[in-house]
Amino acid sequence: MSKEFEPTVITIFGVSGDLAGRKVLPALYHLLKDGLLPEKIKIVGTSRKDLSKDQLLKNVELCVLETDKVCDPVVLSKFNKIFEIIKLDPVNEKDYIQLKNYFEILENKENVCFNRLFYLSIPPQIYSPVIRILGESGLSKKCHHGFGKSRILVEKPFGYDLSSAKTLIKKTSKYFKEEQIFRIDHYLAKETAQNILVFRGHNPIFRDIWNNNSISRIHIKALESIGIEGRANFYDSVGALRDIVQSHLLQLMAITTMDIPEDINSSDLIHQQKSRILSKTELSKINRGSVIRGQYKTYRKEIGKPKSNTETYVRLMLNIKTKQWMNVPIILETGKALVNKNTAIVIDFSNYNDQQINELTIRIQPDEGIDIKLFVKKPGFDNVIETAIMDFSYQNTFDHHYHPDAYERVIIDAIKGDQSLFSSNSEVVRSWQILQPILNRWKKDNNLILYENGSNGP
Ligand code: BG6
Repeated sequence: MSKEFEPTVITIFGVSGDLAGRKVLPALYHLLKDGLLPEKIKIVGTSRKDLSKDQLLKNVELCVLETDKVCDPVVLSKFNKIFEIIKLDPVNEKDYIQLKNYFEILENKENVCFNRLFYLSIPPQIYSPVIRILGESGLSKKCHHGFGKSRILVEKPFGYDLSSAKTLIKKTSKYFKEEQIFRIDHYLAKETAQNILVFRGHNPIFRDIWNNNSISRIHIKALESIGIEGRANFYDSVGALRDIVQSHLLQLMAITTMDIPEDINSSDLIHQQKSRILSKTELSKINRGSVIRGQYKTYRKEIGKPKSNTETYVRLMLNIKTKQWMNVPIILETGKALVNKNTAIVIDFSNYNDQQINELTIRIQPDEGIDIKLFVKKPGFDNVIETAIMDFSYQNTFDHHYHPDAYERVIIDAIKGDQSLFSSNSEVVRSWQILQPILNRWKKDNNLILYENGSNGP
């Protein structure tokens, strides 16, 4: 166990939900196995249902991050010792008494304050009441033994549109300061996404050509082969624009195009630059057909709503109104039930009239790496030109290197209090501002195109 961290209790609201089971609990198990959690650590899951630990863990692939996917009995027994479940309805104030009692008993026994991390793995619609109850009940503050820090971790989307995001920010700030709020964007915690700033800042050959003199187009895509995987209620109320574009894709766009801060380890400087570039970003135009909106053909049947108009695919174009990026189209694209999983940033190096494009691809997943297409002469007597790919792959380069899962990174950073990889409130607001014209338009004209499952989308 790591001695450098203060005692911490992580409370996961919605522990029996999809996200906790698929991502959060496996990440915690893996961190425990690798001795990376604080020496004094407790994990409390809250659930509306009457659920025992055994029942919950039976339905969770706790060891999915292990190479052989098998749990180690010693680690599993340790996990059982630090893990508790409390029955609690997150919108019922009275139920929080049990959580309060749990903290008190724990802190009295250990004679120390624990830092409290509240992980809201619950539908965004109930963030607001939960945050209020946490604030008003004093759960986020008091400890008899001195001072423990409290932080909340929230999943995206933060808000449902521009106005609800602003309201939520206002309500949250009543109880939590900005440095206590960790708005998760697990894409930023992916190893390849973190590499973007290093790649841009530490390779002089790219540093000076990262602008519209050399770059003619940027395409950022998060394409998935899976559908909505049993998350019908959540997904149908959200759709692809809110689920992926407002958060993951705009964040990837920001780190791809922002100025590199003098210190890339400074969370404040990173947020400043991200906010700056987002404030200069606009939809290129908004009319019928400029934003492609699709739904895979079996979606309505899958969720049992024959009239659902929720999009599972979206493709749009942005421009950044700065000297550096003027006239460079930025395409954002995401979709479900497509032919392949492919999350990548593709940057075209060429002049406007060039037929030949050096395509630089930052492969976020799968097969993490970076490649560039070059033109080379084919061996032989004639001058035949072909493309060849120069490829850096994580797997081949860092053979046995430890490669933390994005959620492991999210949890460790929140324990440490490092906000570099989380979205700030101004980034959230600006992202909604960029997309709000689309949401407005879709209210009047949803323009949904159905596409075949397993295809390339509409
Ligand atoms: C989540 C979205 O944030 O990211 C999901 O809510 C999506 O709809 C998931 O499937 C994709 O994450 P990853 O890490 O598998 O690309």
